[in-house]
Amino acid sequence: MPRHMALATLVHPTGYHPASWRHPDARADGSTDIDYYRGLAQLAEKGFFDLFFIADTPAARTSGLQTFARAPLFMNVFEPITLLSAIAGATRHIGLGGTASTSFAEPYNIARQFASLDHISHGRAAWNVVTSANDFAARNFGLDRLPPHAERYARAREFVQVVKGLWDSWEDEAFIRDKEAGLFLDPLKQHPVQHEGAHFRVHGALNIARAPQGHPVIIQAGASDTGKDFAAETAEVVFSSEPTPEAAKHFHDDLKSRMARFGREPGELKVLAGLPVLVADSAQEAEDMHQELQALIHPDVGVGRLAMDLEADLSGLDLDQPIPEDRIPKQANFHKAYFDHITGMIREGLTLRQLYLRYERGNRTLRGTPKDIADTMQAWFEGGACDGFMLLFNLLPRDMEAFIAKVVPELQRRGLMRSAYSGSSLRENLGLARPPHPAR
Ligand SMILES: Cc1cc2nc3c(=O)[nH]c(=O)nc-3n(C[C@H](O)[C@H](O)[C@H](O)COP(=O)(O)O)c2cc1C
Repeated sequence: MPRHMALATLVHPTGYHPASWRHPDARADGSTDIDYYRGLAQLAEKGFFDLFFIADTPAARTSGLQTFARAPLFMNVFEPITLLSAIAGATRHIGLGGTASTSFAEPYNIARQFASLDHISHGRAAWNVVTSANDFAARNFGLDRLPPHAERYARAREFVQVVKGLWDSWEDEAFIRDKEAGLFLDPLKQHPVQHEGAHFRVHGALNIARAPQGHPVIIQAGASDTGKDFAAETAEVVFSSEPTPEAAKHFHDDLKSRMARFGREPGELKVLAGLPVLVADSAQEAEDMHQELQALIHPDVGVGRLAMDLEADLSGLDLDQPIPEDRIPKQANFHKAYFDHITGMIREGLTLRQLYLRYERGNRTLRGTPKDIADTMQAWFEGGACDGFMLLFNLLPRDMEAFIAKVVPELQRRGLMRSAYSGSSLRENLGLARPPHPAR
């Protein structure tokens, strides 16, 4: 049987590009229109994608509004599980993944919500486990700032352990509903959690039957050493965000080599490489489409993004001059890859405006013809850089429509993608085993 690449897409309402909402074709009010989202999910299902994924943070920004007023990421969006439950009824096959933070909830809440989503969607739920990385969210949950990184991950580890315990608090056939005998459930098939840990005390059982997938699929995207260990121990899908196939292969191999320590096989985890893609009939047309969006980036947004990743104060500078030497820090504190990328461009002598127009956070958008895009995806996949892709579309639905019309058939021709959904659950489509109940 040919090995297919897994395909997911991360959906921000008007697209991944920070200026997408300003494009004439964008549905700027789409972020709170359920019919718009349903249409996007149905489109992704038409392209046989495995997973429709909603990222999240539980906070609107309350400072830095000069930038966030113009690039409104997460400023006006649905809560992911509510949203995915509504999408479930409008789709049949595609996996439905959403983010929920372990820093701002109790395991019981999350276990119950994702078990419910798995039932509602007939086995298509996936939970992206994050520890969150901004203080705006912390301040909504009784904290002044996020707890330190190691502490967040220690809590996350215990959190996932309790959630899995709760997902197993009933055996699969516990609810027998025997009308004749008058027995709705088999008491022997209940296995309450008895947990006393550093962060949680849980003594009880979930009030919903074991999920169709046994456990909803666990996603993770941590990039730190601790994050990678956590993923190696618990994740079944990991989103990587490496800019080159070499770096992606290194990440993939490193992550999978960590799994043996936790008694797991490499095949139990699928690494999906983040890939911003823009397809057009010619390379020039793709480039023009990209530049059209770049030109819509307001200087406050462009300079704000650059300042954040360069860890510098760039206020009050002339846009058409290079950044003065004394504003450029000597080294990075937060994200070395972004910092090095920007300082490299500064050395080429670009002006501030040229810098922000050229700079794309993280990965550079892969743009080109259907053949160009398929060639690159094939090379990454067959070179062992990933098990599939987390596709990012700059402008929705336009760029997803083009990908499905032009790249998907090319990948199918090459035997790299399916032409029909093969399984009835997200696990089956991804080739992940259903976890047996521990009592069996
Ligand atoms: C494709 C992708 C999606 C992500 N989605 C979210 C998200 O929805 N919410 C969030 O707080 N973090 C999200 N993250 C961030 C990661 O979960 C993680 O916090 C980050 O990579 C830093 O990891 P580290 O703390 O292990 O270094 C995402 C990362 C990637 C690559």
